[in-house]
Amino acid sequence: MIRTITSIKNAKNSEKLVMITAYDALFASLFDEKVDMILVGDSLNNSFNGQKDTVSIDLSMMIYHTKAVLRGAKNTLTITDMPFGSYLDEKSALKNASKIYQQTGAHAVKLEGGKERAHIIKALTNNSIAVIGHIGLMPQFARSEGGFKIRGKEDEDIKRLIDDARAVEDAGAFCIVVEGLKEEAGKAITEAVNIPTIGIGAGRYMDGQVLVWSDMLGFFEEFKPKFVKRYLNGADLVKKAVEQYASDVKNGKFPDDEFIY
Ligand code: KIV
Repeated sequence: MIRTITSIKNAKNSEKLVMITAYDALFASLFDEKVDMILVGDSLNNSFNGQKDTVSIDLSMMIYHTKAVLRGAKNTLTITDMPFGSYLDEKSALKNASKIYQQTGAHAVKLEGGKERAHIIKALTNNSIAVIGHIGLMPQFARSEGGFKIRGKEDEDIKRLIDDARAVEDAGAFCIVVEGLKEEAGKAITEAVNIPTIGIGAGRYMDGQVLVWSDMLGFFEEFKPKFVKRYLNGADLVKKAVEQYASDVKNGKFPDDEFIY
C-alpha cells in the first residue's frame, strides 16, 4: 500500500524508513512496494548521464524521468529532486514545483538547503506542495564549495546543521535527507527534530536510510563511497552475461532450436 506523507511523519521513533533512488520505469517497477519511498534523484545526472556532478540536469529531464518512474512504481510514495537553479527564489520555486506536481504525479519534491532556503520550503508547503529537505553535504553546491566535503566535524558545524534541520522542519518539510556527515552530527540532528531524518553517509542514528540504486546494486563502478553497501555485483553480472551472449552469437550457439519459430 502506498505510504502517505502523514504515515512517513509518524514513523519517527517507531520504524526505520527505507528510500531508494530510481530513474526509469523498469527498475522502479522492481523496487515498487519494497521500500517506503522512491526518490527520483538528480544523481541520475552522474550515474546515468555520465556527468561529473548534478548541476547540469534541468527541470524537463527531471520531469521526463519522474513520469517514467511513476509508470513503473505505481504503489510507492515518489519524490522528485528539484534541479539546480529551479528554486532560486520563492516565485520560480513555486512555478517549477507546481510543474513537477502537475505533469508527473510526484507526491513530493526535495530541495537542498537549510536555514538559507527555509523561506523557499515555506512557499511550497504553504501552497500544498509536500517537501523533503536535504542538508549536510549538498551535491548541487559541491562545485561552488570546492568538492564533496564531509560535514559535522566540529561542534560549531554541528550547531549550524541543527539550526538548518530545525529551520527545514519549521518551514513545513515532512522529512529531511541528511547527507555526508560524522555520525555524532547525524545523531544530534535526528534528536533535534520531530520529523524523520533519512541518512546517506550519515551513520546509524537516522530515522531511515537512502542509497542510490546503481551504487547499492553495484552497477556504478567508477568509485564506491565508504558508506555504500553493495547488495549485488550488478556490473560483473551484466558484463559476464553480455560476454556470454556475444560469444554464443560468434560461435553459432545462439539462436539454437529453442529460440526459433
Ligand atoms: O540525488 C540523489 O540521489 C540524492 C540522494 C543522494 C539523497 O539526493
